[in-house]
Amino acid sequence: MILVQDKVVMEKPRKFPLLLRMVVLLLSMVSGVYIFSICMEPMTYFRSSDLLRTRMVLNSCPNTKIHSSEIPYIHFPSPRNYSRQECACNPVRLFAIISMQRSGSGWFETLLNSHENVSSNGEIFGARDRRVNISAIYNILDQVYNLDWYSSSSKNECSAAVGFKWMLNQGLTEYHEGIAKYFRKRGVHAIYLFRRNHLRRMISLLANAYDKETKPLNGTHKSHVYSPREAHVLARYKPSLNATRLVRELMKAEQKTARALEYFKSSRSIVVYYEDIVRNRTKLIEVLDFLKLPHRKLRSNQVKIHTGSLLTQIENAADVERALKGTTYERYLHSDYQ
Ligand SMILES: *[C@@H]1O[C@H](CO)[C@@H](O)[C@H](O)[C@H]1NC(C)=O
Ligand SMILES: *[C@@H]1O[C@H](CO)[C@@H](O)[C@H](O)[C@H]1NC(C)=O
Ligand SMILES: *[C@@H]1O[C@H](CO)[C@@H](O)[C@H](O)[C@H]1NC(C)=O
Ligand SMILES: *[C@@H]1O[C@H](CO)[C@@H](O)[C@H](O)[C@H]1NC(C)=O
Ligand SMILES: *[C@@H]1O[C@H](CO)[C@@H](O)[C@H](O)[C@H]1NC(C)=O
Ligand SMILES: *[C@@H]1O[C@H](CO)[C@@H](O)[C@H](O)[C@H]1NC(C)=O
Repeated sequence: MILVQDKVVMEKPRKFPLLLRMVVLLLSMVSGVYIFSICMEPMTYFRSSDLLRTRMVLNSCPNTKIHSSEIPYIHFPSPRNYSRQECACNPVRLFAIISMQRSGSGWFETLLNSHENVSSNGEIFGARDRRVNISAIYNILDQVYNLDWYSSSSKNECSAAVGFKWMLNQGLTEYHEGIAKYFRKRGVHAIYLFRRNHLRRMISLLANAYDKETKPLNGTHKSHVYSPREAHVLARYKPSLNATRLVRELMKAEQKTARALEYFKSSRSIVVYYEDIVRNRTKLIEVLDFLKLPHRKLRSNQVKIHTGSLLTQIENAADVERALKGTTYERYLHSDYQ
């Protein structure tokens, strides 16, 4: 009985019509091509060989001890034009400083760059042609993270952390999904640098725009200054804010930063507030630890332009005070650095 039943079952496939078998064959071919095309994408942009290479280099670097959980976050770039020489076994971490204009990111970057092992290459996506589409962005990211990008801040051979400064309006908001994918695949560290006080940022934006037009410092526009005298000249200008629009603008700014904080939540990230660093430089140690860098004292020659009470920096202080009274933004008027 059993044998007969088996025989019946065995025979069934042979009775499949030829047409059906052709359809199955065709379907499996199509799905094969589909799977292949999916696998191709990371190979072009994300170098799935990254991890393999990292493991290979680690095997040939017996003195480099890395915890296995760190392996996805380290790289051993092989730059096109030079060899990393005695630092070939020093792992490199990739980072991006994500910020907005007039949030102290220039100052923050000079502080980071004063570390002998950090190469932060400035606002490389300031140039529009570098961010016309996501492929153009990937292309630049690959160059920077492979230590093939040259700027005054490149340390090259002995860099242990390489990155740049990226403003939200430089293609980052627009292509955030594609960028998040890249960050995830290549283990890029996101360093958010924001200001807690959006009103102070607004004043700085207006003052900087005014400076661009009038150039009080001997006819040159300066976004950053290096002496108290220059800072004093620039701080003399007191912008006037549109009190009608103020609350709405502040709300928009808050929402924008809140949204940005969501972009890279699947990557390693840290949030740093400008005010916290101004108040206590040791806050920077957290950033060095985040990038697993040796502790160093960080320095910058930049001088803060606007200091002191906020209301003294605004032309129409009374209007602004009235507009914010009783709103959630009233705290901005009185929160100082010290
Ligand atoms: C790197 O090498 C390429 C090709 O060999 C060359 O075109 C480029 O100018 C070099 N870059 C630097 C900074 O030397
Ligand atoms: C992206 O822009 C470049 C020009 O910078 C162009 O050559 C390329 O074809 C574009 N890629 C896509 C996918 O649109
Ligand atoms: C930092 O740079 C110095 C010299 O440039 C080098 O000796 C050292 O190994 C580097 N440290 C790391 C962690 O790469
Ligand atoms: C303008 O330049 C002169 C000469 O270089 C210098 O002495 C002066 O301090 C400068 N003024 C400002 C406002 O920077
Ligand atoms: C202030 O903003 C309001 C609303 O956007 C606008 O109607 C008004 O013209 C602005 N006032 C000034 C002085 O720019
Ligand atoms: C700065 O912060 C560090 C640790 O974060 C703390 O130990 C130190 O006391 C702080 N210094 C001041 C002046 O608040």
